[in-house]
Amino acid sequence: MAENAIKKLVVTILVIKGIEAISAEVLDIFAVAEGIYEMELAAPTVAAKAKPGQFVMVRPNALGQPFLGRPMGIYDVDQKRGSITILFEVHGKGTTLLAKVQKGDMLPVVAPLGNGFDVPEDLGRALVVGGGIGVAPLYPLLLQLKEQGVYTEVLLGAQTADRLLAMDRLVRLNMPVTVFTDDGSMGTKGYPSQGLAELLKEGGFETVFCCGPMPLMRSVAQICAAADVPCQVSLEERMGCGFGICVGCVVDHKAADGTISKKRVCYDGPVFEGKEVFWND
Ligand SMILES: Cc1cc2nc3c(=O)[nH]c(=O)nc-3n(C[C@H](O)[C@H](O)[C@H](O)COP(=O)(O)OP(=O)(O)OC[C@H]3O[C@@H](n4cnc5c(N)ncnc54)[C@H](O)[C@@H]3O)c2cc1C
Ligand code: FES
Repeated sequence: MAENAIKKLVVTILVIKGIEAISAEVLDIFAVAEGIYEMELAAPTVAAKAKPGQFVMVRPNALGQPFLGRPMGIYDVDQKRGSITILFEVHGKGTTLLAKVQKGDMLPVVAPLGNGFDVPEDLGRALVVGGGIGVAPLYPLLLQLKEQGVYTEVLLGAQTADRLLAMDRLVRLNMPVTVFTDDGSMGTKGYPSQGLAELLKEGGFETVFCCGPMPLMRSVAQICAAADVPCQVSLEERMGCGFGICVGCVVDHKAADGTISKKRVCYDGPVFEGKEVFWND
């Protein structure tokens, strides 16, 4: 009885949200840096409706372990090829197996998931801040900003020059990109949040979009709050289902009046206003 009710609830959520559970063929997979891979998956219906900032739950194999999918931002979409691309870094069991997948393999994918970035129609100037693998969900956002004619500058960080991702794509977008590396092997030595306060004062940016390691997002959100510039951050949490059922990805959320409540990163996010995130500080 309870099992039937849960099944009904799952189906209802999937239908209402336009989420699909598909078996996607791996069209391509290759390493772009040590331990970082790009994987293109055949998913025409997902490619047709995915929004910048949305993600997929992907499992490295149809049978066996791991039982749960791993959340990955949608990095690129090719409507003509009917494909989506993910960019992922190997961390543990799931991503190690994902890196071993071969062209032609069929992977269980649930997508598109989450809310995505909110780009106001009348936005004039935007600043996009990315760190490491965080550039993945930002690239489709940059495409949308370009399409909408929004003047956009990018601050991009990585540990080292060889771990700076998406540079080939960013060059094609022809936007101002300032590069930061932790060790100074390319661009400015330090983090993309460096000098952000001054840039916000002078740049007239109306919104900041950020994805990267938590310390970077926290620092960017705090600088934006101090400058009174809206900031959207894309949060990461461990996930079970990816569409709001298991409550495995709950975080504290701070409303404008200071009230703390719980939100599901997969369903209410992963993109939140920086001011609404309870940064535990
Ligand atoms: C909405 C969303 C989008 C994401 N997009 C991308 C992406 O585009 N590319 C990418 O490489 N990664 C992305 N991640 C993180 C990715 O999902 C995790 O790295 C992955 O699930 C780890 O799985 P694993 O089995 O290899 O590691 P596990 O064996 O499960 O864990 C290994 C290590 O990874 C950490 N970890 C596990 N899950 C997460 C998680 N969800 N977020 C952060 N750290 C985690 C653990 O704390 C542990 O230190 C995203 C996460 C979320 C929530
Ligand atoms: S992962 Fe299941 S509710 Fe978010």
